[in-house]
Amino acid sequence: MRGGPVIAVDGPAAAGKGTLARKLAEALGLPYLDTGLLYRAVGRLALDEGQDPAQPAQQFAERLTPADMQRTDLRTPEVAQAASKVAAQPAVRAALVETQRRFAAERGAVLDGRDIGTAIFPDADVKLFITASPATRTRRRFLQNGGNPDAPDAQARLREMEEALCARDKADASRDSAPMCIADDAYVIETDTLDAQAVLAEALRFTRERLAVTRG
Ligand code: CDP
Ligand code: CDP
Repeated sequence: MRGGPVIAVDGPAAAGKGTLARKLAEALGLPYLDTGLLYRAVGRLALDEGQDPAQPAQQFAERLTPADMQRTDLRTPEVAQAASKVAAQPAVRAALVETQRRFAAERGAVLDGRDIGTAIFPDADVKLFITASPATRTRRRFLQNGGNPDAPDAQARLREMEEALCARDKADASRDSAPMCIADDAYVIETDTLDAQAVLAEALRFTRERLAVTRG
């Protein structure tokens, strides 16, 4: 048995996974890993080398360092697209599995991503799937990036962002290797009408209930 519980937080782009997972980890005293950063860092390294991220990128995954994941230039739309392309490669995913499992080995952990409850930890103590409509998620990412919804070009920019976000979700859900999907035993939280605090309250309620059953 692991030293602590594993809590999987999966869902589509900009649903609020990271925000929730970080707060859950804090509330439960568990380590937190944003697994999207692994794929973003691999995509970043491919771009740095002038390589098309759709080309084999396994070597970048194999030589990933903690410093690569701490770079401040991983949150751009260009890197998100590159991450999704490298993430579709089975060899890249295989190279990153152990890092994720080892992270939780000692004390348990909260991890957020796309395949945590389905492929990385199919035996996770708690599985949450956080989602919202594309329009809600696009607006969240737009505001998160400092966008002004009252600017004259806001509608055009929101439309463009929503297209990119939906294209990435579609690619993530339709790839052969560990596609994004809802685990059979996941608890789905639809967050269109919930703020981050309400999502945390609901996730904590479910998590505590589950942990009482699985861990006593
Ligand atoms: O990790 P993921 O891409 O799923 O989303 P995030 O970066 O955690 O959240 C995107 C933005 O939505 C952040 O600015 C959050 O503060 C905001 N937000 C949220 O996380 N949850 C809500 N229910 C509402 C807004
Ligand atoms: O924050 P956002 O939801 O926009 O993206 P992210 O969680 O940082 O993930 C970036 C990309 O990495 C995703 O679009 C997926 O293609 C990939 N990813 C994955 O395949 N598996 C994971 N466990 C996490 C991310």
